[in-house]
Amino acid sequence: RRLLHKELTGERIIVVSNREPYIHTKEHGRVEIHRPASGLVTAVEPVMRACSGTWIAHGSGSADRETVDRHDRVPVPPSHPDYTLRRIWLTKEEETGYYYGFANEGLWPLCHIAHVRPIFRLSDWQQYKAINKRFADAIVKEADSDDPVVLVQDYHFALLPRMIRSVLPKATVITFWHIPWPNPESFGICPWREELLQGMLGSTILGFHTPFHCKNFLETVDRYLETRIEHESSTISHGGNLTLVESYPISIQWPYPWQDTIPTVDECRNEILTSLGLSPTHLIGLGVDRQDYTKGILERFLAVERMLELHPEMVGRFSFVQIAAPTRSALDDYQAFEAQVRNLATRINQRFSTGSYQPIILKAEHHEPELVNRYYRAADVCMVTSLHDGMNLVAKEYVAARDDEKGVLVLSQFTGAAHELHEALLVNPYYIEQTADALFQALSMPAFEQQERMRSMRALVRDFNVYRWAGRMLLDAARIRQREKLALRIG
Ligand code: G6P
Repeated sequence: RRLLHKELTGERIIVVSNREPYIHTKEHGRVEIHRPASGLVTAVEPVMRACSGTWIAHGSGSADRETVDRHDRVPVPPSHPDYTLRRIWLTKEEETGYYYGFANEGLWPLCHIAHVRPIFRLSDWQQYKAINKRFADAIVKEADSDDPVVLVQDYHFALLPRMIRSVLPKATVITFWHIPWPNPESFGICPWREELLQGMLGSTILGFHTPFHCKNFLETVDRYLETRIEHESSTISHGGNLTLVESYPISIQWPYPWQDTIPTVDECRNEILTSLGLSPTHLIGLGVDRQDYTKGILERFLAVERMLELHPEMVGRFSFVQIAAPTRSALDDYQAFEAQVRNLATRINQRFSTGSYQPIILKAEHHEPELVNRYYRAADVCMVTSLHDGMNLVAKEYVAARDDEKGVLVLSQFTGAAHELHEALLVNPYYIEQTADALFQALSMPAFEQQERMRSMRALVRDFNVYRWAGRMLLDAARIRQREKLALRIG
């Protein structure tokens, strides 16, 4: 946090993302404020609170849209504002093409190896370009100098860096890609691959979660564009602009936001078990995800089923709680996935239920972060079984929530987090037997071993927290800015 303040003295940063950090909705005539389920928001929001500036995002709630001034510009967080949220409103048609279509039916499956086929429609691409332009115009309006620091977030805005640079050539554009970057063959099926890459190369810094994603990106650029790539410094020179491609593993806030106010682990455990109608000695596994086909929720349920088959003594003693926030439900693939999750939970429950006992407790609704944290503190095991994931912050949140140094993390080897949290039980989620074994191992792990593993994972999340993530990028940006200023003077 201190590093951030130092790097930003005198700077007002502009963050751009599709998802907004606070959603105002009208419920029963009253305006309610929700925090969305989004890894991006989890990470970037504390950074924005530590800095000042403006966050530009797509207005997604229902309340503001209806009011006279539509709250286009609101000070947030609502209780004690630190920065400004600037909302851009989209029509249904624009949202369908840009967000649901190109971003989530095209780029999302293109970048994740989850074996869902990307869909590329010309009309979606046109909306994507138009909305990127709309955000670029908003940034230019927000900038109070000719060299602003702009943080562009994620795959919704691949074209934005170049658009910003064409109007504000001296801007420092830091782009962070929150999802994986695929290999050149996979990326190459996108009909507009060159334009996307050229757009991203308007960035001063282009960040990914892992060195592997950086390597894939450099190879993709090498395959499809005429550029000069310096592998030693990891830079790409294209159209007179130099881009540093670097890995910055994202993280979460530390100290843990509810540290001083949240009830003890025992209290959370009692509260959650009582609310679920379970006895105090019942064992709890936990999954927390958006209902997205990349998250491996079905594979996780199958592993729970297999574990109960192999260890019948766990039937009646262990339940798996899945918090599954609905997401992108307007899309067919997501609706079909929600139904698959429901049906599989029902089938497994029918197989093992006795009396009121249910092995899978599916909570398919949005939960606010504070409540999710109580679940983290109540759970004996947390399972993160993504088929592919940029980082996965649920893994880090679980670790941060366990100040009692108990609890076990079962973690997919296909997440960015697996590159850092080596003391988790790492699994291949496609291999159901292995995941079932890991779940059982977690449930029977002695307390001293839990403590040993949890302690070193907590040290890592503490030391490499989200302020460090942002601080490292801003430090690199400050160095580049300084170098450019000197070069101008000499030139
Ligand atoms: C991923 C993406 C984020 C996105 C989040 C939630 O973490 O990288 O950009 O905000 O999913 O998805 P949604 O479509 O609801 O914003």
